[in-house]
Amino acid sequence: MPVYTPAEKPTMYFIGVTTTKSSIMKVFPRWMEHFGIDAQLKGIDFLPHSESSEYRKAVSFIKNDPLSLGALVTTHKLDCFRASKDLFEGIGPYAQLLQEASSISKRGTELWAHAKDPITSGLALEYFMPEGYFTQSKAQMLLLGAGGSSLALSLYLINKSRESLDVPKHIIITNRSEQRLKEMQEIHAQLECPLSFSYELCPTPKDNDNVMARLPAGSVVINATGLGKDGPGSPLPPNARFPRDGFVWEFNYRGELEFLQQAKAAEQEKHLTIVDGWQYFIYGWTQVIAEVFHLDIPTTGPEFDVICDIALQATR
Ligand SMILES: NC(=O)c1ccc[n+]([C@@H]2O[C@H](COP(=O)([O-])OP(=O)(O)OC[C@H]3O[C@@H](n4cnc5c(N)ncnc54)[C@H](OP(=O)(O)O)[C@@H]3O)[C@@H](O)[C@H]2O)c1
Repeated sequence: MPVYTPAEKPTMYFIGVTTTKSSIMKVFPRWMEHFGIDAQLKGIDFLPHSESSEYRKAVSFIKNDPLSLGALVTTHKLDCFRASKDLFEGIGPYAQLLQEASSISKRGTELWAHAKDPITSGLALEYFMPEGYFTQSKAQMLLLGAGGSSLALSLYLINKSRESLDVPKHIIITNRSEQRLKEMQEIHAQLECPLSFSYELCPTPKDNDNVMARLPAGSVVINATGLGKDGPGSPLPPNARFPRDGFVWEFNYRGELEFLQQAKAAEQEKHLTIVDGWQYFIYGWTQVIAEVFHLDIPTTGPEFDVICDIALQATR
């Protein structure tokens, strides 16, 4: 059970499950050096779906301790927000829509909640997709998994489609069980947009592969299931039929990453572009750090490249 003692210097918290194992523990001090900030990162570990009172205690402590400036929340972003919603003076629009908070920060005397994934997953997608790619192609997108990060990316694309044609022609979302698919469909139904979606129940890897085999050449396939890191295996069977000239994105950057290995085996034959979750990790953290320390951190360009390089060096 976490022990809360008043911070002796400016402190950001990482509310997760096994926080000491994350690369951020090595990266954060180097980034702070780079930004010229004397601050520390402290992990707060909870088991998934802990008691509401535990989450409330953590958020109340951050709210009331002057040198505790905020937090990044991963696995517990729904449970923690549900347990402590009334403690926030400000709630960002995505946090309101998704009823989750991955970013906790302070603005003067106010405590703020933000859901950053719909922004950070979009930044990570744009980082590797050629600009204007979808405008000129018939490419579709297959999102394997209908969890939080899959929903977040779909919201990014919904927003983008309101002002740009550079979005997939069609988005297929699969899940091994029905509940998350239904929830996703309900949220999408509230939001008018020109994007076309379909939702397919795929209890087995073979089912996911059958959907993938129908994609036009050049389509994007994303593993948003967590399989290969949070659980063993891959959402695809051996010899899965990746689309020719396709883009393959694994949301994670550490773990067995079997899905990524499957793509690598087909890389040459299918002429695939393969991307892992490292950039997503960088965007996830820099966007919350920007909120917590009131920094203007760029998302592209030379200064951003330096930030990425520091992270890489710190984890070597
Ligand atoms: N690099 C980064 O910084 C970054 C950022 C965000 C997320 N991620 C990673 O992305 C992964 C997903 O995150 P999340 O928050 O979206 O997790 P989540 O909410 O647990 O969602 C995972 C979803 O995948 C579904 N699923 C599992 N196996 C499947 C299969 N074989 N076929 C189809 N669907 C399947 C699950 O179905 P059920 O509903 O049946 O359980 C669940 O709906 C995690 O591993 C996370 O660490 C990485």
